[in-house]
Amino acid sequence: MAYYRITGGKPLHGTISVSGAKNAALPIICATVLTGEKCRIENLPDIEDVHSILMILEDLGATVERPSTDVAIIDPTTINKLRVSMAMASKLRASYYMLGALLGRYGYAHIALPGGCPIGERPINFHINGMRLLGADVRDVDSESTPQQVQYALELLEPGSEVSSEEQRSGFVIASGKELHGGEIFLDMPSVGATINIMFAAVRAEGRTIINNAAREPHVVDVANFLSACGATIRGAGTDVIRITGTKKLHGCTYAIIPDQIETGTYMIAAAATKGDVIIKNVIPAHLEAISAKLMECGVEVTEGDTGREFFLRVRAKERPRACNIRTLPYPGFATDLQQPMTALLSVAIGSSVIVENLFENRFMHTRQLNRMGANIRLDGRMAIVSGVEKLYGTEIEATDLRAGAAMIVAALMADGTSIIRSIIHIDRGYEKLDEKLRALGADIERVEE
Ligand code: EPZ
Repeated sequence: MAYYRITGGKPLHGTISVSGAKNAALPIICATVLTGEKCRIENLPDIEDVHSILMILEDLGATVERPSTDVAIIDPTTINKLRVSMAMASKLRASYYMLGALLGRYGYAHIALPGGCPIGERPINFHINGMRLLGADVRDVDSESTPQQVQYALELLEPGSEVSSEEQRSGFVIASGKELHGGEIFLDMPSVGATINIMFAAVRAEGRTIINNAAREPHVVDVANFLSACGATIRGAGTDVIRITGTKKLHGCTYAIIPDQIETGTYMIAAAATKGDVIIKNVIPAHLEAISAKLMECGVEVTEGDTGREFFLRVRAKERPRACNIRTLPYPGFATDLQQPMTALLSVAIGSSVIVENLFENRFMHTRQLNRMGANIRLDGRMAIVSGVEKLYGTEIEATDLRAGAAMIVAALMADGTSIIRSIIHIDRGYEKLDEKLRALGADIERVEE
């Protein structure tokens, strides 16, 4: 097991470039299935989740070439399987995008459910309801299902295949629908996953689909732009109403993923926490309004500029941040994926901050680790009350999930003394070359392979 050893107290200085967005790359890789032709995807981040989703594609029979770590050439025409196994699905939650992609292209999909994850239950009822509205017969089984429900779902099983008792326990979904038709969908919540998965099922359906209360995240727009580049007719991505007119013929394309706004926000917070001066290149400032505004509210200096070829953000801080309150909300609100690193910064703020996590029911596990470093954070349901302390102290801590790991990195970079961060496999899922990028900014960080 690898771990990071970080000695804190060194202000980050210098320039780094952001990688492609994980949460755009994962669905776009799945969306290549819908085109039925070779696609070249560029600006991919070199992270575990991308490796895992490409492995799932290859397991289905697609061929994947990697001319470089940021490019994948995917040929979905060799797909000969419409089932994502438990072993594959459990690699990452975004495996559920294969439900909409396989259903949309082949009229059938059987996906084992990865189940809950550290930050919450992560159900996919909105995805399933949307696909049913498009005419698919979708039967889902989870740990609470009755034997009758399991039998009912197994009626859709492909002839000759079977479902292990383990998969029956952990859950699976089978969707069948050769002739999908358009429909009008109203999402209970602007779910990113449901918006994207329903788009996948709708792009080749007969007629028009309207998704109301759609998610507006930059990665939703990026997925829509990819599908449009493949010949799909999609209007309104980035707003809360997306209109899709199904087209039977989609074609391959070459497409570059947008920069990762969560990676960018994480480095902005780290620059502020270490009282540094960092320039982050290859960003889209419009995607960073909420985090920039919050950092400026804390007294951090955030300026944007462009070199003529690309935009950059410069983040500077000279003293402890002022406390501020955070409410996580769907985009363009404050991103839940930045709540955890932001909590680390606010743990040393002057004053008390109230953080409300509205998206996930269990996204405060990093606070226990921060308290072990000397922070003073009290939890009350979906609320964390952070009483700012003078400083944190290095110790042995654990990354409990991807963005909790980011919070540990921010905390260790500013703490007095040396920290050991364990379970960094979680961090590898979403941050490309993290230690290299931080060392380039002057951080004292070492990755140790045990
Ligand atoms: C995506 O997850 C991201 N993952 C998450 O990033 C991100 O935190 C989240 O969107 C919110 O921005 C990827 O893009 C791969 P949701 P997703 O559907 O699509 C509930 C990271 O760190 N819900 O917008 O699963 C759900 O439980 C990861 O990169 C239902 O109830 O998020 C949650 O409370 C973590 N039923 C809320 O909606 C559903 O059918 C928002 O979830 C779907 C969602």
